[in-house]
Amino acid sequence: MIIERQEDVTAAALAVMERTSDPRIRQIMVSLVKHLHGFIRDVHLTEAEFREAAAILVELGQRSNDTHNEVILMAGSLGVSSLVCLLNNGDQGNTETDHSLLGPFWRLNSPRVENGGSIVRSETPGAALFVTGRVVDKAGAPVAGAEVDVWHASPVGFYENQDPEQADMNLRGKFSTDADGRFAFRSVMMTGYPIPTDGVVGRLLTAQSRHPYRPAHLHALIAKPGFKVLISQVYDPADPHLDSDVQFGVTKALIGNFVRHDEPHPSEADVATPWYSLDHIYRMEAGEAVLPRPPIR
Ligand SMILES: [Fe+2]
Repeated sequence: MIIERQEDVTAAALAVMERTSDPRIRQIMVSLVKHLHGFIRDVHLTEAEFREAAAILVELGQRSNDTHNEVILMAGSLGVSSLVCLLNNGDQGNTETDHSLLGPFWRLNSPRVENGGSIVRSETPGAALFVTGRVVDKAGAPVAGAEVDVWHASPVGFYENQDPEQADMNLRGKFSTDADGRFAFRSVMMTGYPIPTDGVVGRLLTAQSRHPYRPAHLHALIAKPGFKVLISQVYDPADPHLDSDVQFGVTKALIGNFVRHDEPHPSEADVATPWYSLDHIYRMEAGEAVLPRPPIR
């Protein structure tokens, strides 16, 4: 097609997209070109802005490596990760779900821990946290033998892979649910943390006068054949950034009952006050147990 007017470019590109043989790729590419061209007209993108946009995409890739994923960080900061999650869980976005964002810090092969054990692997100053969890199916029946992988930031807001002070795999562990679907562990109370702001995402936040914080949360990835892998985060309702999460991850279903205790712990003599507890029920949906690709090693 010889282009005569700017409108013709869209028609020409769409005609080519329509020739994609795979029907799903065709659907995605046709819609992408429609929306992308529509967006460019909508904002009347200038040539300088287009060059800047291309440079930003290049930088997103260049800043991503084995320990940092700027692309996922950007997707989260634009609300895209949360939208994809909510659209594909809870009966295709129609009901409440325990699914949440994977985030950029899940690692494969976290060490196995016995139920009731500790995931603190190097001295990590902070208040003790005791977590009890139960994994159930849609009908509320226990899911026994599920693998529960948990990870969280330290009391100063760093995951172990970001922090030379912490041992490898500190505050990470993998549990198996018992016959009643339960698991339990001891850790230290995490805090909210700022996402890395030294890249493109940081410039976006500055341009929008946004704070970079995520409210304190506990990550879990729960797997058992016959169920969709449950990727969840449970948030601390006392966190000051609960309703302004920079990654748009907080939903009502994921606000946990973290409790601060100012009385002595009933059984553990070494626990100073205050200490914290979290009791949470994780609901799995039926489906295929496919693990996501780890965003970092
Ligand atoms: Fe996180």
